[in-house]
Amino acid sequence: MKKLANNKMLCMQPIPKTLVSCRDKDGRNNALVVGFTANVSLEPPMIMVGIVPSRFSHHMVKESGCFVINLPGKGYEKEYAYLGSKSGQDEDKFAAMNIRWKDAEKVNAPILTDCPVSIECSVVESTMPGTHELFIGKVEAVHVDEEYLDEKGGILWNKINLM
Ligand SMILES: Cc1cc2nc3c(=O)[nH]c(=O)nc-3n(C[C@H](O)[C@H](O)[C@H](O)COP(=O)(O)O)c2cc1C
Repeated sequence: MKKLANNKMLCMQPIPKTLVSCRDKDGRNNALVVGFTANVSLEPPMIMVGIVPSRFSHHMVKESGCFVINLPGKGYEKEYAYLGSKSGQDEDKFAAMNIRWKDAEKVNAPILTDCPVSIECSVVESTMPGTHELFIGKVEAVHVDEEYLDEKGGILWNKINLM
């Protein structure tokens, strides 16, 4: 028999583990943990990320109109915990944690090179139905560590040890 839970918040589980990296108009890099992510279109491929306006990263995505979703692998727990608890408002998070990165190829944002998968997105629209601004991004490029790609460029998801 089922009964009603008394808390409706975050009742959709499991929450994806992603790190969204972005850059502001002055070239400053940042990244944060984002659990509010979802595929929203197959053709063209689009993904949504939800970011609270008070996050330091929020103005960066607004300004640049793009972001990168990085999927962290096992072994990146320390960086994940840090990026999801400290704010770029107070410190240079990449420098503080020795986050390794490179420029994305299609959008103006950094890619976290120690994550096995990084997805470049350009914002096509945004909406704010509640606490989070939902940025819908068109997928511009998907970077995958080559050991997780088959000869046709297919992603071997079951081989990737995601967090
Ligand atoms: C498991 C987890 C999930 C989170 N999901 C989100 C999210 O979906 N959207 C969001 O704006 N913040 C989310 N956060 C909070 C931010 O990652 C956190 O406030 C971060 O320090 C903000 O960094 P910034 O101020 O440098 O942007 C989450 C944190 C954790 C630990």
